[in-house]
Amino acid sequence: MTIATRVDEWGAHPDHFWLRGRDPEQPVRFDEGTGTWHVYGYDECVEVLSDTKAFSADITRALPELATPEFDDGNLLRMDPPDHGKLRKLVSSAFTPRVVADLEPRIRDITHELLDAVEGKDRFELVTDLAYPLPVIVIAELLGVPASDRDLFRGWVDGLFENRPGVSVHQTREEVEELMGSGLDSVRQMWDYLAEHAAERRRRPRQDLLTKLVNAEVDGQRLSETQVVNFANLLLLAGHITTTLLLGNTVLCLDAHPDQAARLREDPSLLPSAIEETLRFLSPFPWSGRVATEEVELGGCRIGRDQLLMVMQGAANRDGRRFADPHAFDVARDPNPHLGFGRGIHFCLGAPLARLEARVALGILRDRLPDLRTDPDDPATFMATTDMAGVKVLPVLTR
Ligand code: HEM
Repeated sequence: MTIATRVDEWGAHPDHFWLRGRDPEQPVRFDEGTGTWHVYGYDECVEVLSDTKAFSADITRALPELATPEFDDGNLLRMDPPDHGKLRKLVSSAFTPRVVADLEPRIRDITHELLDAVEGKDRFELVTDLAYPLPVIVIAELLGVPASDRDLFRGWVDGLFENRPGVSVHQTREEVEELMGSGLDSVRQMWDYLAEHAAERRRRPRQDLLTKLVNAEVDGQRLSETQVVNFANLLLLAGHITTTLLLGNTVLCLDAHPDQAARLREDPSLLPSAIEETLRFLSPFPWSGRVATEEVELGGCRIGRDQLLMVMQGAANRDGRRFADPHAFDVARDPNPHLGFGRGIHFCLGAPLARLEARVALGILRDRLPDLRTDPDDPATFMATTDMAGVKVLPVLTR
């Protein structure tokens, strides 16, 4: 049985039609229900993500009720040029490729420690025991906050995603506020927690990313206190939920495609390419929001100023005009210009870290538990939100 026939059983979100092996009827369409434009075509998605003049990343232009000014300053994801470039340069001066590469031995040790805890067991739950804790411990240690607080982070992040309203321009401010209520409480608690740590680093600098962010300076500019906290918040959030999904999704994809798993066993050097294929085939971050700043033509449709677009990179990654045999999972796919990490100026800043964690952890998992497989009596469960795609619970057997 293929993934396409099982995603309903696993509870994949109904909007993620590409996971069911279906193609969209047209590359761009207006969705009456939500009042948003859905962009499915690969070329059309690239066009939107690349043209920062015609398409703004600040979705509060179309959805003012989502604006939370105290949390938005320093949130790269919602910024446009030139402010975006200045901030990205500043944070990149602290979060460098070297900082990421130096984490490899620590990622290796944490993976081994987590797998030691399930040693000898016939079964375990891959997300709780490995895919969730690994990226959280890494990002917490990198920032310099206690990894032992990870249950707190999990509570906040669950609170945030469980209470996220689906994006729709029809909702009133009251409806959004009601839906976001406890999600916002979670953000507020995360904010206060990180603000306390950032203030402490100003007083007593340490060898950690929070201290580097507090001290970062480019062209005489420094991050404000709010920007440090909001960026750290973004890292803590983006730094774990998506990588957790990437790890679980790769295990699931290989399990569902035994021929591809066998190819990888024969040629272990294909692991990085298998990870890229998972990013394409079962993209953890399936869409990004943009707003048209002017009237534009896209995929044969006329899009009005201030209208909201959902750039569905998950669907674009299955576009047959760009990928041969797009609904096949191919661990050796080459080239694989997927949009799983986005494209253009907002291209995922954490991509090198996510790739490194996946390569190290999945390599160790393969070596230590070569017979790992999913449990036929206890199937996977998917995230229920439209914002994320992939496994939330993945029971596995070890022999
Ligand atoms: C941006 C996906 C892991 C930090 C993005 C975007 C995507 C993405 C699609 C672009 C959003 C847009 O264009 O609106 C993913 C996936 C990940 C992952 C699939 C794991 C498999 C990480 C990690 C970190 C991170 C580990 C940090 C430690 C960021 C940041 C941005 C971003 C800061 C904003 C960049 C900007 O706006 O300039 N990510 N991400 N991500 N990601 Fe990731």
